[in-house]
Amino acid sequence: MEHQSPQEDLQAKIESLRKRYEEDGQSFATHLEGALHSRYINYWDYIHLDTLLTLQTPKTDFPDELIFITYHQITELYFKLILHEMGQLREANEVTGDFFYEKLYRMNWFLGRLIESFDIIAVGMDQNQFIKFRAALTPASGFQSVQYRLIEIASTDFINLVDKDCRNKYSDYATIEEMFEDIYWKKGAIDVATGKKSLTLRQFEEKYSRRLLRMANENKIKNLYAIYKRLPFEVQNDEKIILAMKRFDTYININWPLAHYKYAVRYLIKESNTVESTGGTNWQKYLPPRFQKRIFFPSLYSEQEINDWGKTWVETEVLQNKSPR
Ligand code: HEM
Repeated sequence: MEHQSPQEDLQAKIESLRKRYEEDGQSFATHLEGALHSRYINYWDYIHLDTLLTLQTPKTDFPDELIFITYHQITELYFKLILHEMGQLREANEVTGDFFYEKLYRMNWFLGRLIESFDIIAVGMDQNQFIKFRAALTPASGFQSVQYRLIEIASTDFINLVDKDCRNKYSDYATIEEMFEDIYWKKGAIDVATGKKSLTLRQFEEKYSRRLLRMANENKIKNLYAIYKRLPFEVQNDEKIILAMKRFDTYININWPLAHYKYAVRYLIKESNTVESTGGTNWQKYLPPRFQKRIFFPSLYSEQEINDWGKTWVETEVLQNKSPR
């Protein structure tokens, strides 16, 4: 192919630009004039830095509360990136094995960084300060993270999110609306003595139930597990894909919950006294994965693996209380 001179190259670009505006019924000349006057983009406007830095607003004067807020926000941004990848899989007209793997790989990568970075809490937050400022945050709790719930809903068939003791109650024809009443996190936030829903749960439901139900229905045949089960047989059995699926499942349902639980234990238990959580769950029973047995892709595991779900990590990490300090 003949090489274009810079002048010809520029001419060709101007011509393409003219065509683009003409096709949209826009005046090329007016757009050129606009370009003459428009401001150059800069970093701080592009990422809305000034706005971003106004979003960390502690409720008390304890300095370490800033770490607590900021790290929650960092986590939510990572959740957003994960949901972004899941959305692309859900909306794709055709999902090839390569595309599926690429999205899963990214999601795993983001989750891996989140799990590693939980130690920011341990290094950055003094327990005495936490015990005091947390009281000012009641009844707010990470339990109310809608993105966390959306990731779960986009990951698996709804029945796998139903409290494990209630799963047998539902036939294959059960509706999402029926199963929603027994979703695992509702069970966690019910006062055992009174049988009443906690305020944390009631507020969350009031704000998000309709959205969660809509998303659950949209994800019925488009969740990650359903998409996986529609891949060609040889792709489903590709070891690389199976490993990536298991990694995703383990990261979300074991490693992240345990990294989180480790710090709940460290921060909420002081000199053998357990402090009540802000969300009011019986958290020592609720949070550990081995009690919950949330598994997104059950068909990928042996019976033994399912029986041992979450055990090893609890033993090595939480019980021996390894931490960066
Ligand atoms: C020292 C730090 C933390 C402590 C002590 C803590 C404590 C708790 C407790 C006790 C619960 C159970 C619900 C309740 O009773 O409130 C919970 C749930 C939750 N927290 Fe945290 N948390 C901490 C940090 C974080 C961070 C940084 C995030 C990041 C977003 C987070 C996200 C969540 C989520 C998503 C749940 C729901 C988990 C589930 O339903 O299985 N937490 N947290």
